[in-house]
Amino acid sequence: MEPEAPAPEPWATRLIDDLDEAARLLRDGGVVAFPTETVYGLGARFDDPAAIRHVFAAKHRPADNPLIVHLSDVDQLPIVARHVPTSALELLHAFAPGPLTVVVPRGAAVDSLVTAGHDTVAVRIPAEPTARALIRAVGAPLVAPSANRSGRPSPTRWEDVWEDLAGRIDGVLRGRISELGLESTVVDCSVDPPIVLRLGALPLEELQRVQPAIRLAGAMDLAAGRSPGLRHRHYSPRAKVIPVEAFEALPATDASGMCLVLSPPADPHWSTRFADVRVFSGADEYARGLYAAFREADARGLLRVYCVMPPADGVGRAIRDRLARASESG
Ligand code: TXA
Ligand code: MG
Repeated sequence: MEPEAPAPEPWATRLIDDLDEAARLLRDGGVVAFPTETVYGLGARFDDPAAIRHVFAAKHRPADNPLIVHLSDVDQLPIVARHVPTSALELLHAFAPGPLTVVVPRGAAVDSLVTAGHDTVAVRIPAEPTARALIRAVGAPLVAPSANRSGRPSPTRWEDVWEDLAGRIDGVLRGRISELGLESTVVDCSVDPPIVLRLGALPLEELQRVQPAIRLAGAMDLAAGRSPGLRHRHYSPRAKVIPVEAFEALPATDASGMCLVLSPPADPHWSTRFADVRVFSGADEYARGLYAAFREADARGLLRVYCVMPPADGVGRAIRDRLARASESG
C-alpha cells in the first residue's frame, strides 16, 4: 500500500441546497459530496489533478485505489474512454443510468491519478436525477468515490457525509437518502468475457441475462491486480460485525449488541435480548438500511452488530459480501 497523501488543512465546509452553487464550486476546482441512488459520492472534476488529490486526502484514501468517473449521459463516454468494448455497450444499454460501473480502456484526457496508474478507467452513469443534473451543470464528468472516510461504511444520508468529512471538503449537496444503499456493481469489460470485480446493487443474475459468460473475480484476478479496491479495509463500523446464517445461532442476550434480521423470529420477546434491533422486510430494504444501522450502532456506542444474512441470490449476494468483509476487518 502506498503512503497516504497528507490531510488538508481544516476546510470551511458548506451545506448546500442549491444545485447551481454546488456546480459552481466543482467547476472552480472544489470538492463537493452529492447524492446518488447507491451511496453519496465525493465529487471533483475528472480533469483537475489538484481537486483529485484533495479527494484522496479528504478520505484518507490510499493512492493505489482508483476512482470511478461519473457521466451524465452515454454520449460523454468518448471523453473518458479510449474505446468502448461491445460488452460494456450492451451492459450500459441495459442498465444505464443505474448502479452499474464498467471498467474500459482509459482515454487520454483522464489523469492517471484517477486510475491509480491503471490503463483502464471505471465509468458509471448514476440514476439519481440530482447527480446527473449536477454533472450536466458542471459541464464535465466527475470522479466520485463513496463520500466516507476510507474504511468506514459508505454514506447513504447527507448527515453521514457530514459526520465523516465536514471540515475536510468544500461542500455537501443535501439530497435524499440513497434509495439502493449499496455501492454499484463493478464489471471489468476490458477483458473477454467480462469479470465482476465488486458485487453491488445490480445483481449478478441481471448481468448474466445480458452477458451469460460473465464471471465473478477469483483469487487469480486479485493476484493480477485487477481489483485494486478489494485489497483495502472496507465498510466497517467500529462495532464488531458478526454475520450468522440463522437467528438461532445468536447469543441468548447481549446488552451491547444490535441485531439485524430479515423477518422477526418466533420468540415474541426476541427484541429485548439486544440493545437495538432492525427488522428488514426484504433484501432490498436490508441493503438500504445496512450502512445506516452500522453507523447508528457506533453512535450508540454498541460493541457488536449481529447480522442474520439474507439468502445468497439477487442483492443478497452483495449484502453477504459486505458483511463478510466488514467482519474480517472488524
Ligand atoms: O456506487 C458507487 O459506485 C459509488 C457512487 C458514489 O457512485 N462509488 C463508489 O466508489 O463506491 P469507490 O471509490 O468507493 O469504489 C470504487 C471501486 C473500488 O473498488 C475501485 O478499486 C474500483 O471501483 N475501481 C475503480 N477504477 C477501477 C479500475 N480502473 N479497475 C478496477 N477497479 C476499479
Ligand atoms: Mg468506497
